[in-house]
Parts: sequence; C-alpha cells; structure tokens
Amino acid sequence: MTPASPSLSNPNISSPVIAIDGPSASGKGTVAALVAQSLGFHYLDSGAIYRVTAYAAQSAGVALEDETALAALARALKLHFDGGEVFLDGHPVGDAIRCEEAGRSASRIAALPALRLALLERQRAFRAAPGLVTDGRDMGSVVFPDAALKIFLTASAEERAQRRYKQLIGKGLDANLANLLRDLKERDARDAARSAAPLQQTADAVLLDTTSLNIQQAVQQVLDWWQLKVAQSSIV
Ligand code: DC
Repeated sequence: MTPASPSLSNPNISSPVIAIDGPSASGKGTVAALVAQSLGFHYLDSGAIYRVTAYAAQSAGVALEDETALAALARALKLHFDGGEVFLDGHPVGDAIRCEEAGRSASRIAALPALRLALLERQRAFRAAPGLVTDGRDMGSVVFPDAALKIFLTASAEERAQRRYKQLIGKGLDANLANLLRDLKERDARDAARSAAPLQQTADAVLLDTTSLNIQQAVQQVLDWWQLKVAQSSIV
C-alpha cells in the first residue's frame, strides 16, 4: 500500500486554518467571511453555533443554566449552514439569532464547560480542504490550536458600539447607543472572565486593531499576513 502523501495526511497543511478571535461586534465575522471568499476557503461562524444552541434551548424550554440538558441538546442539534444562513432542523432561523438578546443568551451558555465540550467536535468537523477561515472567541486557543494563522481582531468598545448602532439603524431597527455600549462591555467581561476557553489574545496570535481601519483594509491586512505565512512555509 502506498503511504499517504505527507501533505494530505497532515490537516494543518492540506486544510490550513485561519483563526480570527475577538470581542463582540469587532467586525471579525465580516472580515473572516471576506477572507474566506477571497481565498476560496470554507468559513465557520462559531458564534452562530452558540447562538442557535441558545435559541433551540429556549424554544425547547430548557433553562440556560441547565448545563447537562444543554450539553445533551447541543449534541443532538440538527444544524447546518448554507449560503450564510443557519438552518435548525432544516428550517432557516434567520434574524432570530442575530438580535442583542440572542447574543446575551449565547454568551451565558458559552460559559458552561460541558456545553462547550459538546460543541467542540462539531466545530472541528468544518475543517476541510482547501482551508478554513473561522471566527469566535477560542478558535485559536482551543478549537484549532494548530491554526496556521491566528489573529486577535479588536476595536475600541466605543467604535464597536457605533458600528453595531449603524448596523441596527440600517436594518430599520430600534437602537440606543448607550445601551449598546453597556451591553457590549458586559458581554466582553463575561466572555473574558469565564474559566472555560475565555476570550483572550494568545501569545501566538497577531493583534489586528481595526478601530481606525475600514473592512477592506482589515481584510487586506489578514490576506497580507496569510501570503507571508504561505511564503515562509509549505502551507497550501
Ligand atoms: O461572535 P458572536 O457575538 O456571534 O458570539 C455570541 C456569543 O457566543 C459570544 O458572546 C460568546 C459565545 N462564543 C464563544 O464563547 N465562543 C466562540 N468561539 C464563539 C462565540
């Protein structure tokens, strides 16, 4: 039997991962999706998995503190992504998981270690050739510790609140800047203070502060770092 070629048996080489972690409303999802599109890589929005799990729990009447029941629910979840939409049991969940309330619920259940463990392999299963770009809080630290490029993408809390405000107003939704800023800071604090996979910049992640960058500039910076990685190593 011919041994598998090393480049195909090593997922770090055959399916490299670009992990983009950072706080809420930093724009990491938009940047990650555009980088994936530009490279022809797969994209995983890991926050959507936490959001849809919280949504499914609430729909099923499972308390957001019931760690055992939440972990069981997470394991059984019939969830798939298609063209940027999230489907639960074959039905699109749409904007139901995108409101501030859904983000808060996701952040609450995300602090529970058994729930995180139940979602771990599901997230890892998104790794596929020719590569994956993913965003979240622990993509580089826990889910894909061997990611070829790790980025900690952030912006000041004020700038993030402004961006979220414009996004909500743009959708014709009600928004209050002061409340958004307070909620963002609360969510950051909870995501960073939890003991299970807290939001953090790991030593091997590069910092991308987008406070004064637009989306195209942030995307370009990630692509430049990626080209540098590829040039320096045998990735892809
Ligand atoms: O990225 P987001 O705002 O859609 O994520 C919603 C919440 O889910 C976030 O406040 C914390 C949690 N989360 C997490 O704990 N780990 C991830 N990898 C992604 C999200």
